[in-house]
This record gives sequence, C-alpha cells and structure tokens, in this order.
Amino acid sequence: MKVSFETAGALKSGAHAILVTQGALQTGTVQSLDATTGGQVTRALQANRFNGETGQVLEILAPSGLEASRLLLVGLGEAARVGATDLEKAGGTLYARLATSGETALTIDASSLEGVGVEAGDAAARLAGGALLRSYRFDRYRTKEPASKKPTLETLSVWTGDAAGAESRYARFAAIADGIFFTRDLVSEPGNVIYPKSFAERAQSLTALGVKVEVLGEAQLRELGFGALLGVAQGSVNEPQVVILEYDGTGGAGGDTPPVVFVGKGVTFDTGGISIKPAAGMEGMKWDMGGAGAVIGAVRALAARKARCRVVGLCGMVENMPSGTAQRPGDVVKSYSGQTIEVINTDAEGRLVLCDVMAYAQDRYKPKVLVDLATLTGAMVISLGHEYGGMFSNDDTLAAQLDSAGKATGDKLWRMPMGDAYDKLINTPIADMKNVGPREAGSITAAQFLKRFVKDGVAWAHLDIAGMVWSDKDTPLWEKGATGYGVRLLDQFIADNYEAR
Ligand code: BES
Ligand code: MN
Ligand code: ZN
Repeated sequence: MKVSFETAGALKSGAHAILVTQGALQTGTVQSLDATTGGQVTRALQANRFNGETGQVLEILAPSGLEASRLLLVGLGEAARVGATDLEKAGGTLYARLATSGETALTIDASSLEGVGVEAGDAAARLAGGALLRSYRFDRYRTKEPASKKPTLETLSVWTGDAAGAESRYARFAAIADGIFFTRDLVSEPGNVIYPKSFAERAQSLTALGVKVEVLGEAQLRELGFGALLGVAQGSVNEPQVVILEYDGTGGAGGDTPPVVFVGKGVTFDTGGISIKPAAGMEGMKWDMGGAGAVIGAVRALAARKARCRVVGLCGMVENMPSGTAQRPGDVVKSYSGQTIEVINTDAEGRLVLCDVMAYAQDRYKPKVLVDLATLTGAMVISLGHEYGGMFSNDDTLAAQLDSAGKATGDKLWRMPMGDAYDKLINTPIADMKNVGPREAGSITAAQFLKRFVKDGVAWAHLDIAGMVWSDKDTPLWEKGATGYGVRLLDQFIADNYEAR
C-alpha cells in the first residue's frame, strides 16, 4: 500500500473517509459535506444508528455532487478518551472495510480532529499505520483465490495539519511493521515449512540490516551441555538450532554495558511428544514458535529503524515429536545450568528449551535485563483469554516498564504473582526439580521453573503469550491468523528505556 500525507484539499476520486467522535455529528466537515451532497449525509445519519461510537462505520455510496465514489464516516468513540491506538484501529477498520471493495484509493481526512488529544502528525501516522497493519495477509498457499476476493486498495492519503511530522512518524511505524510482518510470516507458516533449520535460514536475512546472526547446531549444543533442550529435540528428525541475533546500533558507544537480552520459545511444532496432545486443534501448535517469532521480529524492527541500542535475541528452536527416539515421561535430563530435571510430562517442553537458552544467554552476555517470550501454557489462555499476555517478573521496575510499553502499543500485559509456595510445587525426590506441578496455577509453576534458571542480580520478566500470537477472529489490526504480538511491545520497551536519544 502506498501511503502519503498532505494538507486538506479538494475531494478526490475513490473513497473519502472522515472521522467522527461520539455524539459530535455536526462538525464543520460533516456540515459542508452535507451541503455539497444536498443533504445526503443527514439523511443517511437519520436512516442509521450511527453516532460515532468506536468501530462504527457509515458508508454512503455514490454521494451526489462529490468526486468521491463513496463517503465513509468512522466512529472514534468519546473525544476525550480517544488515544493513539484508537486511531490505529480506525485506520485498520477502514482498510478492512474497503480492502476488497473494488476501490483502489482511500483518502482519510484527519485535518481537524476536534477534542482529540493526539498530536496531528501522530494521529495521521497512526491512522495510516493501522491501515498498514491490517493490510497484511498470508495468502501464499491460496492458488485458486478468485480475483473478486483479492485486495484492490492500493493507495492511502491522509489529510493532516502536520504532513512532515506524520511522514517521519510513519516511516518509523513502517519499519516496525516490517518486523511485525516478518513475525506473522514465520508464525503463519506450517510446520513442514518452518522447522528449526528453515527458521535459522530465514533469520539470515537480518544480516542485511546489520544484525549478526549466529546459529548453534546440535553438535555444538551437545558440547555446550544443553541437555534439557536436546531431550525435547531427540524425538524429531529435525535438528534443533539456537539462533542468536546480535544487534548493536550504538556504534560502539555502549562500551562495556551489557546488552538487553530477549529469549524466545521456538517450538516449530508441538505434538506434546510421548505425552501426546489430543488431535482436535493440534494444527494450532505450528505457532508454538511465536515467542521466537516475536524476538526475531523485534530485533528486525529495531535494526530496520536503526535504533540506538544494544540488544541480543536468542531463539531456542526445536520440534517436539513422539517417536522411538523421543524422551519418556520420567526421564531425567541435565540442563546447561547443571541443574537436573525430571521430565514428568513431555508436553511441558517449552520450559525445557527456555531454561537452557536463558542460562546460556546469561553466561555469555552477562545481561542485567532478560525478557523471555513464550507460548508456554494453555492455562494462560484460560486465565487471560486473548486480551493480555501474562507477565511474571522478579523486578518491579522492569515489570512497570513492560506494562507501560504494552499500554502504549496495544500489546497489553497483565502481571501475575510468583512466590515460594508455588516454587515448592515443582520439587521432586528424583532430581533438582520436575517439569510440571499440579494442574492448578499451571502458568505460575511454569514461571517458577524458569526462575530457577535466572541468576541473582538479573532483572527478568517472563511473558507467557500463549493467548496472543494467534487470533481466530478478524480484528481492526489483523486478519485472523498470526498477530505479530510482542514486536511492538519489545520495540517500545527498548525505545522508552534503553535507547540513546
Ligand atoms: N505449547 C503449549 C502451550 C499452549 C497450549 C499454548 C495451548 C497455546 C495453546 C505447551 O507446550 C504445553 O503443551 N503446555 C502444557 C503444559 C502442561 C503439560 C503442564 C499445557 O499447557 O497443557
Ligand atoms: Mn507442549
Ligand atoms: Zn509448547
């Protein structure tokens, strides 16, 4: 989609949209359009229940007296409560409405947003950014899609009082969107296309952006002692990989300051292993690499917008399969940290992968801040549904920073409790710990397991994003499928706290 920003001018052909806040139906813009169309806007409003509520759209086809082929009014909700993310959603809603309508051009008039407390340039960039995010579709395997179902919308112009400001903000937004789309591609791909090695191959594309990409294969992992990760991988014919992405945008100015480290769970397919999952819905476990997907997308976004920060992302890539070589329930494995683990349930594999990658990352990079992202537990989806990722942290400052990045970007987080009483639940007489606790508090005991691999003095947050990486429903910012959750969150977290200005 081609995007441009301009000052308000004469109405063009194509679709023309204006934004209306709740109850404010008689703005100057509305009145002038009503006059030009000989009262069509008023009549349409009367025939409809449109009152400017969030997400409402009123569409008038072939408005008389206008160059435009259709006129749309989009509701923003109460003026005083409209924030930047609401504008993104309005842009996305408009895109979705018109994508396959036959229309090729859309103009959004954001030149006067009365009572809305978002800067003009930011507002315009967010409208366009929302449309951009919504324009993503994963259609590479649809060979027979009829032309009538394919998108037609190609150009978007946004009218604004601050075109220059909008331009530069949008450029940054587009770089981040590039990272989000990279993530969505990886998460959407099926398990026969994305497996540890093919993931690692795709990661190589980040070198073009100045990211150093290093891949540890099975032999190296064995030498290093990644016993927990290798136990998960041993049932699969696909070799495990740890993909390491080093990005330094400080030009060396960072000196000895350790990088911020992100670790992602990259189970390219999770059958459950010998503790096999039921058949229904198992195809969804292709997106069990969504944590790794978010990490690589975030590094890509940071590199694409040349963020002045130092970040290392590590993706633990394995496939969890049942087979004659698969690990058994009851097996004891020795993790990279030296701690031993009794594998009670081979379907609790994510923590076995993460614990080794996290321990290695701390040894090698000595970070002060470590954030892991993982589609770790079904229990997280039961707790928070698809609205918030669950956050577990040993550090209130870090938790507050992530919470605020979540609020700013719409990748929302909700902090969950931790504590010794939960930690005790994973003790076992056979080894240092077992990989599952009782059924209750399943997301928390998973976090407690990971915490046993966090060194003293490291501020750590674990983000259980099981409910967030995939959506069964269309929403204003994505078509159903991969959401790209986590990319904007990590980008914003870095921008707010670890980026030189
Ligand atoms: N990848 C799953 C978690 C998951 C389940 C994510 C459903 C999204 C939707 C994870 O590896 C897993 O299987 N967890 C088990 C843990 C259990 C065996 C303690 C779970 O949540 O059932
Ligand atoms: Mn599992
Ligand atoms: Zn899993």
